[in-house]
Amino acid sequence: MKKILITRKLIKSSEENALRLFDVKLNQEDKLLSKDQLIKESNNCDGILSSLTEKFDSEVISKLSTTVKIISNFAVGFGNIDIDAAKKRNIAVTNTPDVLTDATAEIAILILLGAARRAKEGIKWANKKNWKWSADFLMGKQLTEARLGILGMGRIGRAIADRARSFGMKIHYHNRSRLDKNLEKNAVYHQSLKSLLSVSDFFSINCPANKDTRHIINKETIKHFPDGAVISNSARGDMIDDDAMVEALKSGKIYSLGLDVYNGEPDIHPEYLTLPNVFVLPHLGSATKKTRTAMADLAVKNIDEFFRTGTCKNRVN
Ligand code: DGY
Repeated sequence: MKKILITRKLIKSSEENALRLFDVKLNQEDKLLSKDQLIKESNNCDGILSSLTEKFDSEVISKLSTTVKIISNFAVGFGNIDIDAAKKRNIAVTNTPDVLTDATAEIAILILLGAARRAKEGIKWANKKNWKWSADFLMGKQLTEARLGILGMGRIGRAIADRARSFGMKIHYHNRSRLDKNLEKNAVYHQSLKSLLSVSDFFSINCPANKDTRHIINKETIKHFPDGAVISNSARGDMIDDDAMVEALKSGKIYSLGLDVYNGEPDIHPEYLTLPNVFVLPHLGSATKKTRTAMADLAVKNIDEFFRTGTCKNRVN
């Protein structure tokens, strides 16, 4: 039986599933493992089922037990793993695409709406109990008929587009390449980011985190948005330069921001917590029982497939 380290606690049925297939080292207390602990715990393991809370940089990868042949990440994003360093060491890295698309698209819409309709201020007022309805009380921005720019039209970007269409939004997007017509569904393709930003009354970040997309929304690119744009990020915190964003939120260039992901999670830029026009959630994109179970089961299946066949459909390196 292959020996597998599971770095974080999973939903019980998924752990049982793993226990049927492998000799499993569980993290019963669900403690965050430091880099040194990760290295130590990998001793004699054939594979690791990791989560986005562990950083497998080149140093960690170089020190993992030489027995490790696969890192199966319990997420669709894999920015926490240096996939090239893993490849050099002949370690396969896999992810969990598809199964979290719908849940993540739902959260993306929630944060877009939360930002546009001033949910943070609304919740605060409701809790104070002394609010008073008036014709101009907490007026926000309406999604209907507005243009939504989507950066990254992969599975999640397209699922957001489908939901946004039902709100009457007009979809624009920028992607590494243009989509086929049947996937595009009349969305307007923009060859450059600048062109997309210039029409984005609303904007949703859904591209992968890598060295090309780090801080792609920064002091310079923010200038291209229409004044008063609403932005949401349900992908990874890396894509936003937080200081530039805070400045734009304070000046009103950006009307409001909805966030589910952060640079250096679980830390959150302190001004995002105090500014009234930033609606924040603690990385809940895939957090439904149905989705987290499907993700964990797929992460287990990826390891099983890899050891049975020597490869895996969800390998990313
Ligand atoms: C992912 O899978 O990348 C999600 O962000 C996890 O919630």
